[in-house]
Amino acid sequence: MFDNPFILEPYRSKELFCDREAETQSIIQYLTNGRNITLISPRRLGKTGLILRIFDEIKSKGLPFETVYADISDTNSLTEFITVLSNAIVCKLGKKSKIKSFFKFLQSVRPLLGFDPLSGSPQVSIAFASESQKQNTLAELLNYLENYPSRVVVAIDEFQQIREYEGVNMEALLRKHIQHLHNVRFIYCGSKKHTMTDMFTNSKKPFYESTTFSFLSKLPVPVYSEFIKKLFLSGGKIIGDELVNFIIEWTRDHTYYTQRLCNEVFSKSGKNIKKEDVLNAISTILEQEKERFQEIRRLLTTSQWKMLKAIATEGSISQITSSEFLKKYDITSGATALRNINALLDKELVLAETTETATSYSVYNVFLSRYLEGL
Ligand SMILES: Nc1ncnc2c1ncn2[C@@H]1O[C@H](COP(=O)(O)OP(=O)(O)OP(=O)(O)O)[C@@H](O)[C@H]1O
Ligand SMILES: [Mg+2]
Repeated sequence: MFDNPFILEPYRSKELFCDREAETQSIIQYLTNGRNITLISPRRLGKTGLILRIFDEIKSKGLPFETVYADISDTNSLTEFITVLSNAIVCKLGKKSKIKSFFKFLQSVRPLLGFDPLSGSPQVSIAFASESQKQNTLAELLNYLENYPSRVVVAIDEFQQIREYEGVNMEALLRKHIQHLHNVRFIYCGSKKHTMTDMFTNSKKPFYESTTFSFLSKLPVPVYSEFIKKLFLSGGKIIGDELVNFIIEWTRDHTYYTQRLCNEVFSKSGKNIKKEDVLNAISTILEQEKERFQEIRRLLTTSQWKMLKAIATEGSISQITSSEFLKKYDITSGATALRNINALLDKELVLAETTETATSYSVYNVFLSRYLEGL
């Protein structure tokens, strides 16, 4: 058992997971009504956690869905996609007899079952002889799910990754098979908003208007604040409103960073938490991360680093080519600012958030932002 209640993994239990009740219920409602979902948010806000929370709710309420979770972030080809999805299915099936009947569906190939030496979880390996064999296997896999005795929800995490596959139009291929499925619903999840929206709202793309969108935002501060106090209390510690709000503000209510700071504060404090404990926790975290931040610095040009620091100092900024901003941070020209921002966006060091009126930029990693501010 772990006694620190502030989890640093996507999901452990409902009790240790803050809120997302409305999102959980509405997504389940959509799935029940036969819709597919596109779930989008910036990184480390809680998409994966929400999927697992939804799956937990489906299980605990005994809803008639089998759930399959496939994280395709590390895949680069159709072969790897098939392997990850097969593993996700096999993990669910557990029993040998069920795995056998799954393998029967994969008629084009001879899948082999092994076990991961570290985790002990079952692992499927498939050797393909040709491109068409891969495509047939994908169809057979989906056909298996279509014929599953209960309805199936498949969550594909980091879905935007399919655009990186070389030599195959994965969107077209997947869509071709998926559109005929009645028994399977999908949650397509991703953090690259631009790519994800293009996939599902561009009329020239295969997945055009095939899903209902869900944009996950930050947790409501009053709700998160109550949750944090409650978790400290559950571990026998008392923290005041002011300090909790300071933690949420300092971490910009960006879930992973807030959880990480709370975890650190919890681990290093006595019964009554003081401001000093929070400040110490902040120093510890920034010290732990320093090496990584310096590595980032080495990978950037001086001009890009300067731009990153300028954005961090502002917290959030939209007017990056204004003469005021350029002058304040000694940036040579608007063109330089634009070139740098594009490089930083590309490296996922800066987050762009667009509203109807403006696009604002902030340093993606909150700890890096706070570190840069302090330089
Ligand atoms: N509702 C929540 N309650 C408590 N902690 C949460 C919650 N949502 C997210 N977290 C924390 O934030 C971290 C990031 O969440 P998660 O991995 O689900 O985000 P994500 O949006 O999937 O990120 P990525 O895009 O990087 O995959 C989790 O490890 C957990 O510590
Ligand atoms: Mg995730």
